[in-house]
This record gives sequence, structure tokens and C-alpha cells, in this order.
Amino acid sequence: MKNHIRIEDINDKGIIVINNIFDNDEFSKINSEINKLIQNKRSKNGKIVLIDDDLKESLLFELYKKNKIKTVVNEIFNHNKLQLDIEDNYKVLRVLTGNNSDNDNQNYHFDGYYLTAMLPILIPKEKDNFNGDFLIAPNIRHVYKHKKINLLIKYFFQNKIAKIFYKTIFFNKIFKPIKISPQENSLILFKGFESLHGSEMLGKNRTRITLLYHFNKMK
Ligand SMILES: [Fe+2]
Repeated sequence: MKNHIRIEDINDKGIIVINNIFDNDEFSKINSEINKLIQNKRSKNGKIVLIDDDLKESLLFELYKKNKIKTVVNEIFNHNKLQLDIEDNYKVLRVLTGNNSDNDNQNYHFDGYYLTAMLPILIPKEKDNFNGDFLIAPNIRHVYKHKKINLLIKYFFQNKIAKIFYKTIFFNKIFKPIKISPQENSLILFKGFESLHGSEMLGKNRTRITLLYHFNKMK
């Protein structure tokens, strides 16, 4: 069945999810490419993070140019009357091993880019709450013209005290974050600059791999 995409959801619901973004062949190619990239890498603090030029020789470097992804990203920018420079992007391959889980548990933050496209590649599917589910309080940050005010808001939400607050019942009551179990081979889009997001605890020795493209650096 063809996915029906409502572009307005990026503002109304704060998130757009498209399942089965790649065909089976493409998705297994992406998986083997990632395996090649990480096989000789050592994890630091429980994770392997490859950024931009680290991905240069691989097909991941230009994956966002695939028609399905490029089209929806373009439509979101058009819908919100923003100019998109698709080359202005920040690429991250993020591999979590669950061996420094506490650090990544409820690691809420805002991105420095307008739009975030997340491609879940490998997601644990155990029957407990430790699969590193995605958490998001969508579109809660107002964007100010003054960079300093935007930075101040970011620091208000990203400091040691805030990190403790995120693990309390009060945070959940006030901000009501949405919890999503990411589907492998899907595309999850959200406004990363305006949405407070992070992930749930990941169980020890569980691998969680996501590929992220961030579009349009905010000034
Ligand atoms: Fe992020």
C-alpha cells in the first residue's frame, strides 16, 4: 500500500513517518555498507558516531538525494515557505551499543538544523522498555530572530539540571513527550530545531543504529 503523506503533519503533529522508504535490495545494501563502515571501529562511551566526511566514500553520503527523501524534504520546506539548500546538511551515523546507557537515556536536546530526517536501520525489539525508543516533544521551541535568545533557550534545556528534570514525572506531565518505537527502514521527519527530542534507555549489549540527515543550519 502506498503511504499517504500529509505534509501539514510536520506542523500539526510535529512528525511525519513514512514506512518502507527503501526497497528490500536497497535496504540490505545500506545495511552491508554500514557494517563495512563500522567493523573496524571501536566504540567510545558505548557508541560509534560517524559524521559527514567519515561517510564520504559510502553510499550513505548521498542517500538523502534519493527521490522519496528529497521530495518530502522539499515539500516540507515549500509548505513552510522556506528556502532549502539541500547541500546544507549534516550527516550522522549513530551506533549505540547499550554499554553507556545512562548517558543516552532521556538525552533530550534541540538540533542546530531546521529539519531532521531519521532513518532507523537497526532497532532492538525486546519485550521491555529498553529498546531506545524515540521520544519527542514536538514544536515547543519558539524561534527568535536574535541568535542569542535562541542559544539561551537551548542552554535552558540542555544542562545538568535539565537532564535530571527529564527523568522526573513532572517533565512528562508538563511536556507530554510522544514515544515512538522506530520501524526499521522507515523515514521519520521532525523539526529538530524546535522539537525537544531524545531516546529511552537502551539495554546492555543491544545495538541501535540510526542514520540522520539534518537540513538547513539555523543562523
Ligand atoms: Fe537530535
